[in-house]
Amino acid sequence: MITKTVAELLSADITLQDVSVKGWVKTFRANRFIALNDGSTINNVQCVVDFENFDEALLKRVTTGAAIHVKGELVESQGKGQSVEIQVKELEVLGDSDPETYPIQPKKHTFEFLRENAHLRTRTNTFSAVMRLRSSLSFAIHKYFNENGFYYMHTPIITGSDAEGAGEMFRVSTLDAKKPPLTEDGDVNYKEDFFGKETNLTVSGQLEAETFAMSLGKVYTFGPTFRAENSNTSRHLAEFWMIEPEVAFMDLAGNMDLAEDFLKSVLGYVLEHNKDDLEFLDKRLQDAEKTLPQAERSSMNLIDKIKFVVDNNFKRVSYTEAIDILRNSKPNKKKKFKFIIKEWGADLQSEHERYLVEKHFKCPVILFDYPANIKAFYMRLNEPDHEGRETVRAMDILFPGIGEMVGGSQREERLEVLKEKMKALDIPEEELWWYLDLRKYGTAVHSGFGLGFERLVMFATGMGNIRDVIPYPRTPQNAEF
Ligand code: 4AD
Ligand code: MG
Repeated sequence: MITKTVAELLSADITLQDVSVKGWVKTFRANRFIALNDGSTINNVQCVVDFENFDEALLKRVTTGAAIHVKGELVESQGKGQSVEIQVKELEVLGDSDPETYPIQPKKHTFEFLRENAHLRTRTNTFSAVMRLRSSLSFAIHKYFNENGFYYMHTPIITGSDAEGAGEMFRVSTLDAKKPPLTEDGDVNYKEDFFGKETNLTVSGQLEAETFAMSLGKVYTFGPTFRAENSNTSRHLAEFWMIEPEVAFMDLAGNMDLAEDFLKSVLGYVLEHNKDDLEFLDKRLQDAEKTLPQAERSSMNLIDKIKFVVDNNFKRVSYTEAIDILRNSKPNKKKKFKFIIKEWGADLQSEHERYLVEKHFKCPVILFDYPANIKAFYMRLNEPDHEGRETVRAMDILFPGIGEMVGGSQREERLEVLKEKMKALDIPEEELWWYLDLRKYGTAVHSGFGLGFERLVMFATGMGNIRDVIPYPRTPQNAEF
């Protein structure tokens, strides 16, 4: 007899056959009904035990969390809530679970409690659904790029350059922290470090991806990314996964088209392939929102929100237009924003981004052409506008409930302009000589963007905290598991 997964059993249309299944006990009701789950689906298979046929001591060991092996007949269910069930003939406890101490009791737990028990939280419906969706979205991303002629590229995790100029990086070093070798000036002598120079965990694979775009044409990365910014928010992780496509001969408009098509495609994929999990999460969210005052509840449920993004065009708005909207907005005039928008050039905070997306446009928004001095050095400089203001061909995609989902740009392909920009920002040419070489040998217009994978998973699952969409979150003061 072949052991089947719960998903296979529940979709089997041939009943009255002997089956074998292994999983973990969710509940054992009335000494008769075992709800069994093995992670293959959000749904449990009901296993019906005729207690007279089994040893009492054995049945006592069928507790929530125990691993069991069931053999029996798959029959049409007599009860409500499931189409098939198993009439148990043989029952084996593979691994006992102490009901006194097992943290995942069959009741509601707070997400905070489950974060402390992250090694077991995927035994719950919510977290197993979230992680199945995460897996499905990863697959959809690779599928999209593969079907559209992109090559998957692995960029280094240890780097010697700071792509974003953010300066908030994790150092990689094998020097003795207590007694590092010093230079004559008393500074740490990184020449004696493992790589003979200062190295860090990467904040982005973009610069390396550009080298491949300028030879292979269309490439993307999908890998771990690290930021040591000390921002303890529900949208930031110290270690997250980023998807970064980079395409030769593509301008900013093409970049926006690509990002929009890509997001619609991967979200469309989960709508089609993860119905059960989405329906569960949708219901969870509606239940959670029932406790909120009417004004704070969302007008759309989860599945409708995803469908809305898939079916509607993103709104494309220049930074300059956005600033006008914000300056004239109610929360700005009534000083409700923490950061009041006074003039052109202001950096947008998440409160502004969310106002634009959630209150003003009520759909995903692509903001483009940002002031040059609030964006990274590698972005393509525009001609100054009629007021002589300098902007770059940057774009950010803002999503309802999330804020910034994507950040990207057309890249500065002109050697002299790029050198000048680096000089102004004190970025030594020696550090990025290879990046400059791309502009010396066959330079061309090219563009790309970065998508924060966890922010996409947040949107697709309706989870409100980024710590709940990655298996083991890394945040300030926390690297457990
Ligand atoms: O806007 P960012 O910093 O852009 C880049 O790194 C570019 N090099 C991308 C490119 O053009 N190839 O980051 C891109 C995205 C953000 O929009 C956000 O979704 C996500 O990465 N992100 C984070 N996600 C979780 N935790 C953090 N600390 C994040 N920082 C950025
Ligand atoms: Mg950004």
